[in-house]
Amino acid sequence: MSALVVDSLSVVFGAFRALDDLSLAVDAGEVRAVIGPNGAGKTTLLDAITGITRPRSGRIVLGDGLDLTQHGEAAIARAGVRRKFQKPSVFPALTVRENLSLGCGPGCPPGAQADRIAAALAETGLEARAGALAGALAHGEKQWLEIGMVLASEPRVILLDEPVAGLSDAETARTAELIATLRRPDRAILVIEHDMAFVEAVADRVTVLHEGRTLFEGGMAAARADARVIEVFLGR
Ligand SMILES: Nc1ncnc2c1ncn2[C@@H]1O[C@H](COP(=O)(O)OP(=O)(O)OP(=O)(O)O)[C@@H](O)[C@H]1O
Ligand SMILES: [Mg+2]
Repeated sequence: MSALVVDSLSVVFGAFRALDDLSLAVDAGEVRAVIGPNGAGKTTLLDAITGITRPRSGRIVLGDGLDLTQHGEAAIARAGVRRKFQKPSVFPALTVRENLSLGCGPGCPPGAQADRIAAALAETGLEARAGALAGALAHGEKQWLEIGMVLASEPRVILLDEPVAGLSDAETARTAELIATLRRPDRAILVIEHDMAFVEAVADRVTVLHEGRTLFEGGMAAARADARVIEVFLGR
């Protein structure tokens, strides 16, 4: 059962097609990686899903039939679609706990907030840092905090843009473990990354984007063996 369906999506900037009739479907319970060279359209795909960028044509449909292209950013977030940005965007002057409470969002039931924050602290391993200012965290901890802010809303679609960029090997391994714990039967996770070992560790399937189109879809082992994928991306 698909939790997120992207159907013939095109995003155009001037004369440039950043996404060109792109289709992909992420199953409930799946972790899908989207990989591909710089400028392939990966972040643009997340911008379209989250309502930041209006597509020229196509549909983006949740499992319950909601077409996200007909809704704005706030309604899409309320529908349970949450994103971690490519550049960590936590509130540096607020504590870890306060950031998580913002992640819970305005739609967060007041009675549920404390439990959700506690769960996000436990899942991200940031319990001991709950009272620290987010600005004082190490880069890896900031990335985990932003994932925690996504989690606090109990999303059904999680979008992660380069969650291990700039992390050490140990922090990357920790992030892979964290993502494995985010999997739920009713949740789709879409992760963009350039770190292929990380992608292999976390993803069920990969979609290789190239010039706004799908070049390959399948397992990471098959992607590594695919001549076109090697030519445009992995062989570089
Ligand atoms: N708002 C915009 N206006 C014009 N062009 C844009 C805009 N946003 C993105 N682009 C262009 O669309 C293409 C795809 O960009 P995108 O950020 O989606 O790439 P990406 O696959 O995420 O790359 P990276 O791996 O470097 O993050 C690039 O050529 C980019 O310059
Ligand atoms: Mg990008």
